[in-house]
Order: sequence, then structure tokens, then C-alpha cells
Amino acid sequence: MKYASQKVAYAYFIAAMGLFAIQVLGGLLAGWIYVSPNTLSELLPFNIIRMIHTNALIVWLLLGFFGAAYYLIPEESEREIYSVKLAYLQLIILVVGTLGAVVSYLVGIHGGREFLEQPLWVKFGILVAAVIFLVNISLTVLAGRRTAITNVLLTGLWMLSLLWIFAFINPSNLSLDKMYWWFVVHLWVEGTWELVMASILAFLMLKLTGVDREVMCLR
Ligand code: HEM
Repeated sequence: MKYASQKVAYAYFIAAMGLFAIQVLGGLLAGWIYVSPNTLSELLPFNIIRMIHTNALIVWLLLGFFGAAYYLIPEESEREIYSVKLAYLQLIILVVGTLGAVVSYLVGIHGGREFLEQPLWVKFGILVAAVIFLVNISLTVLAGRRTAITNVLLTGLWMLSLLWIFAFINPSNLSLDKMYWWFVVHLWVEGTWELVMASILAFLMLKLTGVDREVMCLR
């Protein structure tokens, strides 16, 4: 670790691992309900466990992306993160929002759209966290060295955050509903996560092999 602010990534990693554990426990329980359909049917129905399983997945993945960005951007940009406090604030908002969503699901409050079930206040929380992240990371990158890795990563993360806005649009027309749903769910998975992953993997390849940037066309 070359820069002190990279340590923020550790907190993101721990939070992501906690959610991963929740996801797997939820998955095992949901799988068990296939075997024994009446398990917890009153207390914790299958649809609620399924929501917790898939939502935990989405949030740990996002925390992984954010944490990875906070780790690799200082090294790529050759400077500390613009604000470590903002990075922790963002994490707190995301963790509180996630726990809030889980509690809401447990008492039966949810939006009912697959993967976008979060109550409105949680959706707002995610938006605020995304804005904090974009400001923090963009100011770091713009003030430092710019590389292909930071350019691709920033493009992916900006697009990812902007597409989240479509999660707020929920028209009564089912076709339109599905279209806006698709803008978030599929354009995330098939349009932006690849950019984020490509830059993280490029960074890893540079670090693990020690190969020159030029060889990987990354300059
Ligand atoms: C012990 C591990 C796991 C178990 C037992 C498990 C079990 C399940 C079950 C029972 C469902 C609900 C299927 C249904 O609706 O009929 C489900 C859905 C899902 N799981 Fe898991 N899961 C596990 C791990 C994972 C992991 C590691 C991921 C991804 C990183 C994942 C991603 C998903 C997704 C995306 C869905 C929703 C699929 C859909 O919408 O069709 N699961 N899982």
C-alpha cells in the first residue's frame, strides 16, 4: 500500500464480506425451502428470503467496486483520495440503507420489482452515496495522473450511478415498467460492470505480472 487513504478499501472489503455471508446464508435457507416447503413459511417466507439473498449480492458487489476504486485510484492517480471522510460517510450510508432494506423486507415493506425492491428512502440513500462517491473519485482523478485504467473505471462508475436514476421511475404500464427496470438491471450487468471489471483486472495484471503498461496498451 503506497498511500494511506487506500486503507478505506479494507472497510469496504469487510462490509462486502459480511453481506456475502448474509447472501450465502439466505441462499442456503431458500434452497432448504425447496426441500422442505413449510420451513419458516409464516415467519420468513421464501419471497422475502429471496429478496435478501439477491439484494445482499448486489450491494456486496457494489461495495467491492467502490472499495476497489478507492484502492487502485490513488496508485494510478499518484495521489491520496480527495476525502477519506467522504469515503467512510458513503460506506455508512450504504450499510445503514442495506440494513434498513432488510428490516423493511422482514416487516413486509418492499417495492415488489425484482432486484429493485428497496423502499424509496433506501433508493435515495443509494443515490446520495453514489453522488458522494463520484465527487470524491472524480476530484481525485482529475487532480492526478490520468491513465487508461482510471478513464475506463470512471466511465463505468459514472454510467452505473447515472443509470440508477431509472430505478425511481416505476410507471403503471407494464411494458414501460420493464423497460426502465431493464435500464438499471441489464445495462448495469451488461454495460457498466464490464468497464469496472476491465479496469480492476488491468490493474491487477499490471501488479501481478510487473509487465509494462505499454505492452497492455494501457497508456
Ligand atoms: C450456498 C450458496 C447459494 C445458494 C444455496 C443459493 C440459492 C438460491 C436460491 C434458492 C435462489 C432462488 C431461486 C428461485 O427463485 O427459485 C437463488 C437465487 C439467486 N441467486 Fe443464489 N444461492 C447461493 C449463492 C449465490 C451466489 C454466490 C450468487 C452470486 C454471486 C447467487 C446469485 C443468485 C441470483 C442472481 C439469484 C436470482 C436468480 C433469478 O432471478 O432468476 N447465489 N439462489
